[in-house]
Amino acid sequence: MKNLDRRQFLKFLGATGMTVANYGLLANLASCQTRSIKGIKASLKDDLILAPGLDYKKIISWGDRINSRETFGFNNDYIAYEALGPDKLLMWVNHEYVNPLFVSGYERSKENIDKERRAVGGSIIEVNKTNEGWEFNSKSKYNKGIRGDTKIPFANNVEIEGQNFAIGTLANCAGGKTPWGTMLTCEENYDMSYGERIENSRQITASRASWEKIYSHPPEHYGWVVEINPKTGQAKKHTSIGRYAHECATCLVENNKAVVYSADDKNDEHIYKFISSSNDSLDVGKLYVADTTQGKWLSLDLNDSPILKKHFRTQLDVQIYTRKAAKILGATPLARPEDIEIHPITKDVYVTLTNNKPAGNFHGSILKITENKNDHTSLSFKAETFILGGEDSGITCPDNLAFDNNGNLWMCNDIDGKVIGKSPYKAFGNNGLFVIPTSGDQAGEVIQVGSSPNEAEFTGLCFSPDQKSLFLSVQHPGERTKDIKNPTSTWPTGTIPKPSVVEITGSLLREFTQKT
Ligand code: FEO
Ligand code: CA
Ligand code: CA
Repeated sequence: MKNLDRRQFLKFLGATGMTVANYGLLANLASCQTRSIKGIKASLKDDLILAPGLDYKKIISWGDRINSRETFGFNNDYIAYEALGPDKLLMWVNHEYVNPLFVSGYERSKENIDKERRAVGGSIIEVNKTNEGWEFNSKSKYNKGIRGDTKIPFANNVEIEGQNFAIGTLANCAGGKTPWGTMLTCEENYDMSYGERIENSRQITASRASWEKIYSHPPEHYGWVVEINPKTGQAKKHTSIGRYAHECATCLVENNKAVVYSADDKNDEHIYKFISSSNDSLDVGKLYVADTTQGKWLSLDLNDSPILKKHFRTQLDVQIYTRKAAKILGATPLARPEDIEIHPITKDVYVTLTNNKPAGNFHGSILKITENKNDHTSLSFKAETFILGGEDSGITCPDNLAFDNNGNLWMCNDIDGKVIGKSPYKAFGNNGLFVIPTSGDQAGEVIQVGSSPNEAEFTGLCFSPDQKSLFLSVQHPGERTKDIKNPTSTWPTGTIPKPSVVEITGSLLREFTQKT
């Protein structure tokens, strides 16, 4: 059973709170959708499979040269762009982490670690619309990397461990785009590179990638939201939005203030909201954490919270140890919160809670937050489950989300490569791309429209300006390969796997995105 009860679904979407104009829009959309769209079945085939009416082509892959010094990094994730014209986009692409088997080598030599530092962070690339679709412009003067070895200042000249800058950005998972044309890239599992400080000591835990064996950068320099100007390559790290495993940073301006929603992708961690003092900067403002039970945003500002003053000397200490401060305030523990997106019509805030396996929650859910009076600067809200994961709903381990302009919800999932095809994920096959129409005969139905190559996940879904194309990252195909001569995926080369950005087009996409 893959259908939600439609009336219930429309209620979830907030139709009850809609204006007459929005009802009209829904009615129009409903009348347009005449045929029943069939998705694809879950698959374990090592290929990028799409539903009939969709096609893809590759735009860029790991290792492609982007300028005379740099190549496109590994494990592309979040995608955003700034349009320089209708046929010219400056695209930002995150590179989350590397697989040493493909990128460097397991020996922890300076040479190998330097290769890895240069393959994470992100890339600015120009893409142009041609008769063959969107294509990477390898000659563009804008192409450049912001990587694990790039010097990046802290906003407001903040000093951490005696330095007002960090070396590198890393673990760049999802992100956001500001209304003033900059990109936000989120440092998620930062402790994998330089470890983490053990509380109240000078000791640092050993990291998985062991970069600290060569470079002694303080762990406190990572785990932030980094703002990038795609035209200049200028970057700054914001301490204002806190330090944790940032999945995303979803930004909008309301009531003349910039607002950023961000989630901490770890079991029993939290979702946060930052309200800036300005409408075009994230440098200064207040950070809040969600109590989803009471429907309250709790202030992490020392001046608002006498209890925090007992535990923290300075506001910067609160920002560095955000998780600890959130717990002191009684923030609600959630099941690995990942992406956050805002419905373009109802303005509700959707949050993926991917799973919490130790707690027996294998399939996760999508949470819907309705801010008081739909005001994103409000400090109170209502939270309810939008979809519960499981075989009944057809969703498991939801990760990245995107709404198209018509309010259809697009989703990618992230089943851990170790358990793909195994219980309790057997029915779901490889990771996929899904769409949940919000109107018409199939409103509320979860339709799978894409299946990823072996061990990959789709991430970074991002619509072109005319919404006739969907840009998508194919991350970590063949990630469990042990022998490079015998990889577990050969997508897209036919020989070795390469993380790549693709463009998806076709009549099926247009059916969802072009109706008005
Ligand atoms: Fe990098 Fe939470 O996914
Ligand atoms: Ca993710
Ligand atoms: Ca994930």
